[in-house]
Amino acid sequence: MTVLQMEKLSNFINGEWVDVPRSTAVINPATGEELLQVPLSSAEDVDKAVEAAKKAQKEWALVPAPQRAEVLYRIGNLLKEHKERLARLLTMENGKVLEEARGEVQEGIDMAFYMAGEGRRLFGQTTPAELKDKFAMSQRAPVGVVGIITPWNFPIAIATWKSFPAIVAGNAVVWKPATETPIMAYELAKICEEAGLPKGVLNVVFGTGSEVGNRMVEHEDIRVISFTGSNEVGRNVAAACGRQLKKVSLEMGGKNAVIVMDDADLDLAVEGIIWSAFGTSGQRCTACSRVIVHEAVKEKLQEKLLTAMEQLTIGNGLDESNRVGPIINKAGLEKIKKYIEIGKEEGAKLLAGGYELTEGELKNGFYFAPTLFTDVTPDMRIAQEEIFGPVISLISVKSFEEAIEVNNSVSYGLSSSIFTRDVNRVFKAQRDLDTGIVYVNAGTTGAEIHLPFGGTKGTGNGHRDSGVQALDVFTEWKAVYVDF
Ligand code: NAD
Ligand code: ALA
Repeated sequence: MTVLQMEKLSNFINGEWVDVPRSTAVINPATGEELLQVPLSSAEDVDKAVEAAKKAQKEWALVPAPQRAEVLYRIGNLLKEHKERLARLLTMENGKVLEEARGEVQEGIDMAFYMAGEGRRLFGQTTPAELKDKFAMSQRAPVGVVGIITPWNFPIAIATWKSFPAIVAGNAVVWKPATETPIMAYELAKICEEAGLPKGVLNVVFGTGSEVGNRMVEHEDIRVISFTGSNEVGRNVAAACGRQLKKVSLEMGGKNAVIVMDDADLDLAVEGIIWSAFGTSGQRCTACSRVIVHEAVKEKLQEKLLTAMEQLTIGNGLDESNRVGPIINKAGLEKIKKYIEIGKEEGAKLLAGGYELTEGELKNGFYFAPTLFTDVTPDMRIAQEEIFGPVISLISVKSFEEAIEVNNSVSYGLSSSIFTRDVNRVFKAQRDLDTGIVYVNAGTTGAEIHLPFGGTKGTGNGHRDSGVQALDVFTEWKAVYVDF
C-alpha cells in the first residue's frame, strides 16, 4: 500500500508501526485537500520511544563504526532509488516545486553517503603525554539518546542532516517531525527499516510541539536536543535544556540579504535574487528577504527585478511549468499579509505583489504573489523581522561599508551574499559579513552538505548541521590516559 492510500500514519517505535488514537489532517497546500491523518501522540508515547532508543543505543554503539556506515550506504541507495517518488510526495505535503523537491531529496542522499564515509574516520587524536610511560589520546563517544525536532520547510533534508551523523556516531534517535509534513518522516523511517537499521535506533513520534516536543525536551534520558525551527520556539527549547544542563543545538530563522554593488553583473544578481527570494515561496531559512543595493545601480536593478518577477509562473508545484508554489498554510499567509500592511504603514513603497492569489485553480490553495518593496530603510520591521514568504525589501546604500553595516544590523546571522567584480571587496566581505554562510556572486540559498550549515546571533547557538562539524553535536570528547 502506498502512503497516500493510507488513511492515517503511525508512529515508528522500536521497529514497530504503532497506532495512536488522536490525529489531525495533513493538507496539501497547493489544493487545500486532505492527504491523510497524522497522529497526535502523547507524552507517554515519547517515553516509550525513549525507552526503546535507550535499549537499542547500547547495542548500536558496540557495532564497529564502519559497519554502522554500511547501513547508511544502504539508506543512501534506497533514497536514490525512490528519489522521484519521494520528491513528488514532498511537493504534495510541503508545496515546493518539483525541481526543488528533487534537490531536497538529493541533499538527503548526499548526506547519507557523506556521513557513511565518516564511519571510516570518526578521528580522535593522540598527543604527547607530560609524563614518562604514559599514552594520551582523545576519542569521540556517542552521547546516547538524541532528540531531533524539525520544521516543515525541509521535511527530509533537515532530518537527514541531524539523524545521519547521530546514527553513524553510535547514538539512537527519537525524532519529532512537523505535523504539517509527516509523509517524508514516514518514508524515511520505512527506508531505514528496509536498509536494516536495527530496531529502536530511529524512532519517529508524530505530534505537536507543546506535547511531544516539550516532553522530548524535558526527558532526562534524551541527552541532546537538535532543533531547527523558529526563533521563538528555539529560545524556549534552549531555556528548558539549559535548566537540565542538556546539550542543545539550535538552527533558527534568518533575515538574509543580497548585496549588489555598483560594479556587479546585474543580470547575474537578478538571477540569484529571484532564486533565493522566491524559491520555496520564500519559506527557506536562507531566503533572500533584503536586497541591499548601491544607489548608482538601484533603478536599473529594480527594473530588471520587476521584469524577472513578471515571468514567474505560480501554481501547483507538481506542474513543472510553475516556478513558485504555495505558502504552507493559512497561518503562513496571514503572517505575510500582516507584514505587507506593516511595510505600507512604515512608508515603504510597494512596487509589485502584496496580495493573496485566489483566481481559478489557485483558490483552494494558499498562494501569495511575489512582492517587491522599495524605499525600505534598515530599521523598518520588514527589514528586520523574518516574514517567511515571497517578499523582498530593497534598501539603497551609498558605499560598500554601509552595505556591510546594513547587512549586519539584523538580529539574525544565517546567510549573506555579495555581487561584485572587485576582488578586494570579495575578501573584505567574506571577513566582515556576520553570518554563518557567505556567498560571492550567488544568491543566499543552496548550501551544500560538506560544509557546516548554520548561523550566528539569533539564528543559532554555534553548533552546526551538516559538514563534519555535525558530529560535534552528537558526540562527546573523551580523553583517555594509559600508564604502562
Ligand atoms: P516552529 O518553531 O514552529 O516548529 C519547529 C518544530 O518545533 C516543529 O516540529 C514544532 O512542532 C516544534 N515545536 C513547536 N513548539 C515546540 C515546543 N514548545 N517544544 C518543542 N518543540 C516545539 O518552526 P516552523 O514554522 O516549523 O519552521 C519555520 C522556521 O524554521 C523559520 O523560522 C525558519 O527560518 C526556521 N528554519 C531554520 C533553519 C536553519 O537551519 N537555520 C532551517 C529551516 C527552517
Ligand atoms: N540547502 C538549503 C539552502 O541553502 C537548505 O537553502
